[in-house]
Amino acid sequence: MASTQTLQGLSKPRLIYRAPENSEEDIAFFHDLINDPTIQTLSTRRLPHPSHKKSAEEFIKTLQDAILGVVICLPQNSAEAETTSSTETQVLNEPGQASNPVPIGHLSLFSVTGPGYAHHRNAMIGISLADGFRGKGYGGEAINWALDWAFQHLGLHRVSIGACSFNRDALKLYRKLGFVDEGREREAVYHRRAWHDIVSLSMLEHEWEVLRGMALVQSDLTPQSSS
Ligand SMILES: CC(C)(COP(=O)(O)OP(=O)(O)OC[C@H]1O[C@@H](n2cnc3c(N)ncnc32)[C@H](O)[C@@H]1OP(=O)(O)O)[C@@H](O)C(=O)NCCC(=O)NCCS
Repeated sequence: MASTQTLQGLSKPRLIYRAPENSEEDIAFFHDLINDPTIQTLSTRRLPHPSHKKSAEEFIKTLQDAILGVVICLPQNSAEAETTSSTETQVLNEPGQASNPVPIGHLSLFSVTGPGYAHHRNAMIGISLADGFRGKGYGGEAINWALDWAFQHLGLHRVSIGACSFNRDALKLYRKLGFVDEGREREAVYHRRAWHDIVSLSMLEHEWEVLRGMALVQSDLTPQSSS
């Protein structure tokens, strides 16, 4: 079977994933992240308000309890290069330049139903990137990495993802990555004096296999009749 590295295709991975720690560094990072008004509006759907440090510790615990919960990081030099020109970024991204990964977001794969339902092999993706690191392809790379992990290593059958209907950029990305629309919870979200839907999407195991070119491999292995 092809390795995860191979399945990710031609583009070179730029991100590093590590476990969330109960460290001052991670608490400070997540405290900033959950206080970001964009994250509060688009990601958590909680009533926007200043969150205390304890909320960051609780968020880290949620990530640690997830099936997969990671801090998305960039090699330090790449993160510094975000403020420089794109040409400089390419140079700084050369192998051997990576050190002290810098957190830029989080990704989790969690069960929506609980431990007694593991046999259904379903999970949902949650993801948020910090301000300054969105719209640069990192979200797409991280979600593809999580999909490969979910289907190749965890043996999931279905991975779902959702977004508010006004989060058009996120929905565009999810569809581009191959998620299929399933439906919507109508007027489930109140935001700025208006009602919005929650759009649900998912990817099934066989759809992922086709996207990664594995369906062909399977059919090649099927014995042909001699007639
Ligand atoms: C949603 C999110 C994870 C997507 O990751 P991302 O790294 O910004 O998206 P990418 O750069 O990989 O993908 C870019 C593509 O998606 C779209 N896109 C998604 N979010 C975008 C953003 N914030 N800014 C610009 N483009 C965005 C672009 O149209 C682009 O499409 P294109 O390649 O055809 O031009 C990230 O923007 C984010 O954390 N947003 C705030 C929190 C949030 O919405 N979380 C998800 C809740 S469901």
